[in-house]
Amino acid sequence: METKIIDDLQVCADCLQQGMALAIPTETVYGLAANALDEKAVAQIYAIKNRPTHHPLILHFHAQEAFLSFVTNFNDELQLLGEKFWPGPMTLLLDKTQKVPNSITGNSTKVAVRIPSHPLMLQLLTMLPFPLAAPSANPYGKISPTTSRHVLDQLGGKIPYILEGGPCQEGIESTILGSENDKIVIYRLGSLGIDEIATTLGYIPEIKNEKTSTHLTSGMVKYHYAPNTPLFFLEKDSPIDHQSLYIFLFEIPLTHKDCNCTIMSKHRSMKEVAQNLYNTLHLADESACSRIFIEKPEPLGIGLAILDRLQRATAKF
Ligand code: TXA
Ligand code: MG
Repeated sequence: METKIIDDLQVCADCLQQGMALAIPTETVYGLAANALDEKAVAQIYAIKNRPTHHPLILHFHAQEAFLSFVTNFNDELQLLGEKFWPGPMTLLLDKTQKVPNSITGNSTKVAVRIPSHPLMLQLLTMLPFPLAAPSANPYGKISPTTSRHVLDQLGGKIPYILEGGPCQEGIESTILGSENDKIVIYRLGSLGIDEIATTLGYIPEIKNEKTSTHLTSGMVKYHYAPNTPLFFLEKDSPIDHQSLYIFLFEIPLTHKDCNCTIMSKHRSMKEVAQNLYNTLHLADESACSRIFIEKPEPLGIGLAILDRLQRATAKF
């Protein structure tokens, strides 16, 4: 199958109506979307990504009215988060109603819902009478795509279309939140920073993205988001050589000035680091380097989410 990068929303809508899976842009990462209510369409997502079928999918809607019949126990605090952060890079894990097929929740009683803010994705959702199930558009375990080119490189030949939406503004996946014992908890760190959430709630929510949680999310899998080239955190005693690529946050230190180096933000902005992280890792994989060493971010604000992704990506090596 030839994969075309297109900007025609109607072609995408028709294709989705016919039960096909295709790639769409969101503000976080590109997604592999299909009709969430069509089991055959959803099965294609799992097959194309090579994803284990017990890993549940996020449902994307254009507005809250559109998902209310799919969820229950949408309590005041969860609603407050919805009002404050949607459309945007946040996913809420809510109790599902019978309208949600078990095939997309991995038989869990919870369903993950999100209202993305990318204008093309929002417009596409308003053209469809069903929600879109959409995991990140990468093969299972690999680096998520933040440009149409990344999708083409990873899923080319397996899908008919990629909707061109430009580079993703946020660059890492949505933050996944839910409610346990009347308190908000974080199941996956992501683009929406913990500080912003804490300001809205008036307390710092517990982070439950470790093995202890009963709700499995692939963000909890130890090895994930990994490049093909071995990736390590840059430590004081890391080797300095000409075969490796060194990735720094803001500037290249004198110690490495003769090496193969790159930085992720010219403006000393962690938000920019998040935006560029996956692209930098994709480029590193394409370069002929034998190893990648990356500077560790401070575990503050969005740095926490970046660190989380890098810990999972380096754990494989
Ligand atoms: O930013 C994002 O969230 C992107 C864009 C495309 O929207 N999507 C994304 O999807 O990251 P995915 O499938 O790569 O990650 C979704 C996460 C997984 O870790 C999955 O296990 C979790 O959400 N999840 C979905 N439904 C769930 C459920 N019912 N219970 C527990 N975890 C769930
Ligand atoms: Mg993913």
